[in-house]
Amino acid sequence: MKSYQTYRNLPPLAGLASMEQAAKPGLGIEECVTRLKRFHYAFKRLHEILTAKITSEPIYELKTAFSYHAYLCAEHVSALRTRVGEMREPPLGLEDIPHEALQIFFDEILCAPTTFELLFGLYETALPALTGALQDYMQVTNPLTDAPSNRVCRYAGIEIQDMLKYGREAIACLEEPGVRQTLEPWSKYLSELLQIAGGLGGSRPALDQPCERRYSQTPYVYDAVPKRDERFQDLYNQGVNPEAFLYDKQYPAKPKALMMLFKRIREIDVPEMMASIIIQTPGKPWGYYLEMSRQLWDEARHTMMGEVGFVAMGVDWTQARITHNWSLRLNTECKPLERHGVLYFIEQGLMPKTGKRYEFETAAESGIPLMKTIQDFDWADEVLHAAIGRRWYITQFKDIHEALAFGDQCWSKIVSNWKQVKETGLTEHTNWWPSIYKQACAKWGEDPNPAVLAYNTTYEDKRADLKDLTRA
Ligand SMILES: [Fe+2]
Ligand SMILES: [Fe+2]
Repeated sequence: MKSYQTYRNLPPLAGLASMEQAAKPGLGIEECVTRLKRFHYAFKRLHEILTAKITSEPIYELKTAFSYHAYLCAEHVSALRTRVGEMREPPLGLEDIPHEALQIFFDEILCAPTTFELLFGLYETALPALTGALQDYMQVTNPLTDAPSNRVCRYAGIEIQDMLKYGREAIACLEEPGVRQTLEPWSKYLSELLQIAGGLGGSRPALDQPCERRYSQTPYVYDAVPKRDERFQDLYNQGVNPEAFLYDKQYPAKPKALMMLFKRIREIDVPEMMASIIIQTPGKPWGYYLEMSRQLWDEARHTMMGEVGFVAMGVDWTQARITHNWSLRLNTECKPLERHGVLYFIEQGLMPKTGKRYEFETAAESGIPLMKTIQDFDWADEVLHAAIGRRWYITQFKDIHEALAFGDQCWSKIVSNWKQVKETGLTEHTNWWPSIYKQACAKWGEDPNPAVLAYNTTYEDKRADLKDLTRA
């Protein structure tokens, strides 16, 4: 082999590997499929765990990170499904559990009782094990015969590194003194489960050993009630109606841009709600979960666009009242399909002239360049979401009219609780707008416009239902 030369010593084998590396037999198709199915299972479970925690995790930064990481996992699930499908193995058995110990391993993390344990399980146990298994695979499979799998694994590995970096930094920020010692028995037990399973990727023989459950002894129950961290105050406040302000011709574009930032950051309730649809709608084709997770991640990005806009403007967003009323009510009063119906109904309503185009034009008119970028991409994302809705929501009905009528009807079902939350003392519906607007004016070096400052339209609508209060 040493004497072999390529034409004018060009790199051999399209740059995939050296002759020596490619001349090693590596794994056969059957072994490759077995291992790839394990990676697929791991990503699927990670996607499930991350998604399931978005709603009930109080810390905003973690909600958005979970939204991102869940989406990344969903993409790798898809890539692995496609690859396994190419490997001559029908029936694919992609929904099978590769090993009971692996199932318990992920169940344990899903059932982790605290945020810190969850982070530890995800970012210090599961993802490092998965990245190790992927590297292991790439070392032993033949780089030429199995190049398509290697590519899938390499891309997965790159994004796992991003997730791990975030996770490690998050753990360092949230770790309380002494907590690591208390985690030791659970940590050891998680490693044992992986050993019993023959490693996460199945590169070692599985052990014939029984495995009991700890945290997952009681099966996991999804918590649909959205939680927020302490920066989010007065969670039932409906004291400012941003839509009425936005569509009122008497107000100038610049304060409207500020109000739009509120609308964006308030979208944190969309991932909280969409996560509940994904978790509580089993049995769909994988494409459903992939696209719903993409949309969920987009909505988390819209929230962060609002956050960035406020920060760039020097305005303290915690002075606004970013309520959880919408996600709380949909998650606790509607069935998953009804929530999807409401989401679709709202999003298709954003497409006509008064919706996202108007927001973009107002943002451009505001003279704030970042606002224009934000609304430009927000609009494009919403067009995609309408398409996702057409693929996965509309197709569950006889036709589009029936689907829309259902969404409309679900939306109308949620009767305004404006009076009730006030009467029961949950909120005073305080008008927070002047404090936000005055902060922005100070940063802009402008005197507040008296009419804008006096804006005081609340969500106390004449209609009994919330349907008119277009949002998202
Ligand atoms: Fe959005
Ligand atoms: Fe959307």
